Amino acid sequence: MITNTELEYKGNLYPNQIIDFKQDTDKLYFTTENGVILQITVMRNSTIRFRYATGHTFEPDFSYAVSEDASRGYNRLEVTETDNEYYIETTRVKILVDKASLRIQISDLEGNIFNEDEIGFHWEENYEYGGNTVKMSKITQTGESFYGMGDKATHLNLKGKRVNNWVTDQYAYGKDQDPLYKAIPFYIGLHQNKAYGIFFDNTFRSYFDFAHERRNVTSFWADGGEMNYYFFFGPDISKVVRLYTDLTGTPELPPLWALGYHQSKWSYFPESRVKEIAKQFRELRIPCDAIYLDIDYMDGFRCFTWDKDHFPEPKRMMKELKEDGFKTVVMIDPGIKIDKDYWVYQEAMEKGYFCRRGDGPYMHGKVWPGECNFPDFTNPDVRAWWAELYKEFMAEMGVDAVWNDMNEPAVMEVPSKTAPLDTRHNFDGHPCTHRKAHNVYGMQMVRATYEGVKKYVYPKRPFVITRAAFAGTQRYSSTWTGDNVATWEHLWIANVQMQRMCMSGYSFVGSDIGGFAEQPNGELFARWVQLGVFHPFCRVHSSGDHGDQEPWSFGTEVTDIVRKFIELRYQLLPYLYTMFYQYTTHGIPMLQSLVYYDQEDSQTHFRTDEFIFGDHILVCPVQEPNAQGRRMYIPRGKWYDFWTEEVIVGGKEKWVAADLDKMPLFIKEGAIIPKYPVQQYVGEVQIEELVLDLYYKEGVELSSVYEDSQEGFDYTQGKYSLRKFKLIGKPKELIIQQHKDGAFITPYESFKFNFHGLPFKISGIEIDNEKVALKDLKINGNNSLIVDKNFTELHIVGK
Ligand code: GLC
Repeated sequence: MITNTELEYKGNLYPNQIIDFKQDTDKLYFTTENGVILQITVMRNSTIRFRYATGHTFEPDFSYAVSEDASRGYNRLEVTETDNEYYIETTRVKILVDKASLRIQISDLEGNIFNEDEIGFHWEENYEYGGNTVKMSKITQTGESFYGMGDKATHLNLKGKRVNNWVTDQYAYGKDQDPLYKAIPFYIGLHQNKAYGIFFDNTFRSYFDFAHERRNVTSFWADGGEMNYYFFFGPDISKVVRLYTDLTGTPELPPLWALGYHQSKWSYFPESRVKEIAKQFRELRIPCDAIYLDIDYMDGFRCFTWDKDHFPEPKRMMKELKEDGFKTVVMIDPGIKIDKDYWVYQEAMEKGYFCRRGDGPYMHGKVWPGECNFPDFTNPDVRAWWAELYKEFMAEMGVDAVWNDMNEPAVMEVPSKTAPLDTRHNFDGHPCTHRKAHNVYGMQMVRATYEGVKKYVYPKRPFVITRAAFAGTQRYSSTWTGDNVATWEHLWIANVQMQRMCMSGYSFVGSDIGGFAEQPNGELFARWVQLGVFHPFCRVHSSGDHGDQEPWSFGTEVTDIVRKFIELRYQLLPYLYTMFYQYTTHGIPMLQSLVYYDQEDSQTHFRTDEFIFGDHILVCPVQEPNAQGRRMYIPRGKWYDFWTEEVIVGGKEKWVAADLDKMPLFIKEGAIIPKYPVQQYVGEVQIEELVLDLYYKEGVELSSVYEDSQEGFDYTQGKYSLRKFKLIGKPKELIIQQHKDGAFITPYESFKFNFHGLPFKISGIEIDNEKVALKDLKINGNNSLIVDKNFTELHIVGK
């Protein structure tokens, strides 16, 4: 235990005894004799904010991370006082504040401690920059595990690790390398099967130590700003994640095509090459919805321009691609080439929109176009200007979507890889240096891009991608995990990163499938596509200087395997879209790590490879060469092997066969999985019936299917269709109840049920209490059934 004297000796300051307490509705203020104020805000019954001021003064309350739509309101707030403590109680949590030290302890109403301060808040004054290094230390509970923290390329369970948050262009990063492209200072703690979460809303470089330096201590600190964190009370991880996601927000629904398969490379040019790639997809009948144009489409890497030699008529080209079912996605970087004849540069100069250094000169740095200046995206006027720059691209030329890259911002040939720390920023009216603005620079860039794209693709939906991100960026943009490498280790990293991002509130995420740097062999490429089709964003991208990385680049065996898995993704589009709907409306992560899925099974606490895709599909990638299968953990419950239909009772490890054309996939019993026919691109075919793959269960299971017009905003006016199915299986009976919400009329008239594992022969059917002749339902043996989509109860009787 560190004593206060030792702390002082190390230059740390810490609060002493409380001398004043005040309550202002949902805010409680505790002031210490040495001028520390702890402000506790009860945001919701289970979301509590803790904020500390030193010298009696809070900074202006401002956050880029917290969503304007975050829920507020609680049912109960009671404060009581004893000689030594204050107690604050909501309907879910109890907070103790120690009068002598300002330390806190958080428990449930039964007194189970979820989280408690060790030293608690302490700080060091920063002589050079002013302000403080703000620190918090907590007691690590026995057997505690830690999850979350965005894109960290390390074991899913962070116990024993120290990580830091400083968004960084980390080309060809390795396992355990830190920091990477994202800064998401949010973690989940789990002990005694009870989970809580902490979000440290501070944009400075921050550090988290999960019992790494001292075995019994978990701490986090930042180079400046305030100690300002939110506590989320579980006890379920799923609730913690939902509370965090509610606070920092979710995206709107993307257009459905954004969930299709996408093909990218640095770079496809000239036009004839782009067309050739498009043609190959259609000829080989490999579904694909989007082609990406990397920086070489630009004129000398100047954003918002075209290289007229390679793309003489971009508008016509994109129109033709669209006719063939391809969307065009173009890259836009933050660095604006210093070129007095370039209109974007001129405009930004005239308006004073570029970042300046501490003493006034423009901040400049080398990126692809050579020396560049950088717009200050933390200035709302700059964002509004930037959004307008998309007008011509989107509204007039027909660009469909935009990816923002290098927005850490990346600067070449300097050791820091980014802007100098004295670079100044507006920070939405709270002027500061790059120390504070760095982590949100990319977020504010893509926010401006999102606003512009949204305005100018209207009435269509915007789709945007970003590389850099801070907590809350998920409101504006999808993301990818940056410049990975074509190695087996990176396949492992991709799997962990996507799960971790999903648990950190950011579900619309994918990796450069196959690897960005270096060249995968066919086997690695096939295994990576198998995993990638189960990631929310599914795009092959590569640096392109090592050879081709298209689905057909590795011989016919691999092409056939890749096609088969991309086809599976297209069949699962309604399932994936429903996952997205659940993410946007309820904050449910699209991928669920096993610990999220079943935290009470301690076997799951250290698993990394397996995850649940949506509610009902268990996925486990093969991550080694020459494998004919792998060992994996099957979580508790009963699961159908997707390939063999064998039913497995989970709660154990198992060897699962998976030659190169298969990967371990299991469907949870009772699931009803919606499927569309294979299409070469979204919207190619009219959906004539909805396939429902039903996996029999003795017992009850819920499934749902969300659909709408796949584009546009009608769904926000109630034009959507949400079907909720309740399956009730008995030994000789199967009941399916349907409840439908929303005013969207789905284009098909009927469902085709495919039965898996039905333990009886169908002898009679009733639809909404009326007997129906079996022959009218076109039973294909005992295996499938076509029924009108409008039933409320389908009753199947067996013998
Ligand atoms: C960066 C990006 C990569 C892109 C390249 C060229 O390395 O991460 O995706 O292809 O820049 O624009």
